[in-house]
Amino acid sequence: MASNRRIAIIDLGGQYCHLIARRLRDLAVDSEILPPGIPAEALSPYAGLILSGGPQSVYDANAVTIDESVLRLDVPILGICYGHQLLAKLLGGEVTRHDGEYGFAQLKTSTLASPLPPVSGTGTNKSWRRTDSADSLFRGTPLMQQVWMSHSDAVRALPPGLVTLATTDRCTCAAFAHSSKPLFGLQFHPEVAHTEYGAKILENFVRSICRIADSGTATSRVPALCERIQRAATGKSVFFLVSGGVDSTVAFALCGMALPKERVLGLYVDTGLMRQGETDELRVNLAQLGLADRIRIQDASEDFFKALNGKIDPEEKRQIIGRLFVEIQAQAMHQLSIDPDHWLLGQGTIYPDTIESGGDTGRAAVIKTHHNRCDEIRELIRQGKVIEPLAEFYKDEVRALGRELGLSAHLTNRSPFPGPGLAIRCLCTHAERPGAPLSQEIAASLAEDGFEGVLLPVRTVGVQGDARTYRMVVALKQKDDDIDYSILRRLSSALCNQNAAANRVMLLIGGNHSLTDARIVSATITRERLALLRQADFIARSEIEHASLAGTVWQFPVVLAPIAFQGGESIILRPVNSVDGMTASFASLPTQLLGTISGNILKLPGVDAVFLDVTNKPPATIEWE
Ligand code: XMP
Repeated sequence: MASNRRIAIIDLGGQYCHLIARRLRDLAVDSEILPPGIPAEALSPYAGLILSGGPQSVYDANAVTIDESVLRLDVPILGICYGHQLLAKLLGGEVTRHDGEYGFAQLKTSTLASPLPPVSGTGTNKSWRRTDSADSLFRGTPLMQQVWMSHSDAVRALPPGLVTLATTDRCTCAAFAHSSKPLFGLQFHPEVAHTEYGAKILENFVRSICRIADSGTATSRVPALCERIQRAATGKSVFFLVSGGVDSTVAFALCGMALPKERVLGLYVDTGLMRQGETDELRVNLAQLGLADRIRIQDASEDFFKALNGKIDPEEKRQIIGRLFVEIQAQAMHQLSIDPDHWLLGQGTIYPDTIESGGDTGRAAVIKTHHNRCDEIRELIRQGKVIEPLAEFYKDEVRALGRELGLSAHLTNRSPFPGPGLAIRCLCTHAERPGAPLSQEIAASLAEDGFEGVLLPVRTVGVQGDARTYRMVVALKQKDDDIDYSILRRLSSALCNQNAAANRVMLLIGGNHSLTDARIVSATITRERLALLRQADFIARSEIEHASLAGTVWQFPVVLAPIAFQGGESIILRPVNSVDGMTASFASLPTQLLGTISGNILKLPGVDAVFLDVTNKPPATIEWE
């Protein structure tokens, strides 16, 4: 396809840069992700440019930027988040620190009174035309709409020639357009699933502004994927690490389809960090594939347990687990007299694993190191010894591929479970401290809504402004028994936006304690703690299934945290809804069901309290660690 029908996406290091390309793929529009240093001449043949988000501040001394002559090209440009701020700054606007706006926001758009004047030097079919108007970006979307934000800087002032197209309560310039050129900025992320009309806004940009016609519907990806596997594995066989989850099963099935059976072998490592019944479920899932005889199951729980002994730092735990997978796989190959020079290591890695682990370019922040992106795996990738058929895909696309391959709905709908398993959901610390009161102002405003709150010094990973945060959690207790999710949604956003110390909010739903009695106690990974967590997880999963709600909750991590009230610990429930795991909203489960789950969990010896996590992603991540 000629590049004048393609979009260039300039990667400024954002968590969602690759997701922009995925959304364009959904619109059957080709795109290329390019580095920021690319010269303007190389960009002139494209139908449009999109500047991605990024973790830096545009006013930092070494902030990533683009060739400024790009702005003089006759090519439409859309800046997103950091890209929006960079575009505004390069055009003469002012960008400064902002209090922060993470997750859900209500966007108010305005329509422009008059159409825009033509751009000078028009004449090509991709030019900005007289009939276009700046609000063409929002055409077909309502004046008020839900968008997803993740920024800690904001555009404060626009230069002459730029007009504000939209605002939110916390952001005075949530979108802008140039009055005579096809230049646009969006502070929010149209590419994430939680931005209600994001797909429509991107469609408006590529079709109405960049003038890329609709080339019809997408075709099956399976034949192309099989071809790619055959090419990558020419003269080699594939030794696959499988976990029984959707990603590795679909990737393994694709390899089994692309290559002769004898060239595909799978290894399931029982880490001892799995949930109840998981290994048995794996056997059933693999039997479906007709590849059960090509799988080895190895119990390595003792190795994992020993290696994790005394470790409390979540990143260290992740590196240890990733490294052990590689070591055990190498030992298994040795035992089977497999020559590593003739075999590739197969993994079910999907794109979010890569970008959350810092991506491939060095520009993105490390949010957390996924088990399939530890240092040892990166080295094997560098040596060309790894095959990852799904590395460009997102969870919802993998599920669709699984369905296309004829895998059962039970498997393709399976809720995601992370490779490092319960180890990351079993929070560890050496600190022993009580909670701290919230500011008087925040406490007074919480009291008006019928809540009390405390800041607990349990730190967890969040993703804010495309960067990793490791911050504390605000625990809330409400006077009423009935949970009002609309109040919680508002409080949860406000507490993280206004409070730089916290990236999470949770509500006490089980155990009649005063929050001021909470103490963080020292804890590491022990068999007893893992067993307790496994039991609590089993209760939550069983009750959700019993209520026939398993299909309506995207993922439901259950977490053990060393928050004590009477010498025990606390369990945190984290039901979320998502599409691709890149953004998520906390799920609003019925109060009665939560009461049943927490009541049963409270009966477990050693559990003092049960909390419900009511934070979106961003500012928090889905997992607790
Ligand atoms: P977070 O917690 O970053 O997670 O919002 C996004 C999704 O990724 C899953 N996850 C992992 N999956 N290996 C995996 O295969 C990992 O190391 C890993 N860490 C997180 C998480 O469960 C969620 O679905």
